[in-house]
Amino acid sequence: MIFGASGLLGRSVMRAFGDMTVTGTGLSRTAGGLVAVDATSADAVTGLLGRVRPDVVVNCVGERRPALWAGSPEKARAGNVEAARLIAEGARAFGARLVHVSSDYVFDGTAPPYRPGSPPNPLNEYGRWKLLAEYAVRAACPDAAILRLPVLYGRVQFAGETNLTEIARQVAAGAPVELDDVCVRYPTHADEAAEVCRRLAGALLHGRHPGRVVHWSAEQGLTKYRMALLIARRFGLPAGHVRAGAADAACGDRPVDCRLDAGNLPAALGPVCRRLFDTEFPPAVEPWLTPAGPAGGRRKEDPS
Ligand SMILES: NC(=O)c1ccc[n+]([C@@H]2O[C@H](COP(=O)([O-])OP(=O)(O)OC[C@H]3O[C@@H](n4cnc5c(N)ncnc54)[C@H](OP(=O)(O)O)[C@@H]3O)[C@@H](O)[C@H]2O)c1
Repeated sequence: MIFGASGLLGRSVMRAFGDMTVTGTGLSRTAGGLVAVDATSADAVTGLLGRVRPDVVVNCVGERRPALWAGSPEKARAGNVEAARLIAEGARAFGARLVHVSSDYVFDGTAPPYRPGSPPNPLNEYGRWKLLAEYAVRAACPDAAILRLPVLYGRVQFAGETNLTEIARQVAAGAPVELDDVCVRYPTHADEAAEVCRRLAGALLHGRHPGRVVHWSAEQGLTKYRMALLIARRFGLPAGHVRAGAADAACGDRPVDCRLDAGNLPAALGPVCRRLFDTEFPPAVEPWLTPAGPAGGRRKEDPS
């Protein structure tokens, strides 16, 4: 069972488990046979797990959009922390293996690279919620695998769904814009992260445990400004309107460099198809280089 299957990562995870019998859940987006479940409702989570009795659960539920952290903090906290706890309790109660997805934002970004055992020290609410979620998962389901990931990109449904497509839209729009050139991110393709989820789930099902907390990350580090320059160069767009800035670093609640060290996870999982940013970003951003995007470009609840 994939909780959060309608999201960026969840859609990729659904594809990665495509040869299996999978139940996917969504909250506001339930097209394509997804089950509508509010993961902050104990009855809803327990009821569904009790009916389906999955062998393995992957939890991709999360609320990671900054506008919602500020606008509805209680709701965002519940979507990150309560949902994680309830799903972990349910997985344990019904004997399912659990892969829980967490974030590099549990670290403060001052001392990379970060290993799974490095001390967390989140700088913002989202990072604190992701860390509280990890603690709740560990308490409720001690054998769960907690997978920390860096910023993701891939096939999006609206431009604001990833930083990368939002940056592409800003490059294409041509209006003056300043993008941070201090904070380093390691954009990782959602399909690659999904393959890791699948391999982790397979390992757990076969009684192997690659680690209770594990890391996965692409290796190429880029700032938002560098991503913009790559997009402009690849598509022959002017970049004179894009200035290098330091806004993310200056605001104090964005980590500067959370490079994740995956340790021996690649060896433990077997060969995972590495997706290089330089070859994977063009198809991810190309549909969003027109102001409207492929289908109007924004969904109703897109806050960005
Ligand atoms: N995207 C990144 O850059 C990134 C980086 C590191 C870690 N992560 C983590 O990876 C996981 C997946 O992220 P994502 O990027 O795929 O997020 P996303 O695109 O925003 O999708 C979030 C998913 O959670 C669902 N959801 C939200 N609140 C819910 C609730 N109360 N009950 C049930 N479902 C709820 C959403 O459902 P609807 O959309 O149907 O409402 C959607 O399926 C999260 O844990 C996130 O923290 C993401």
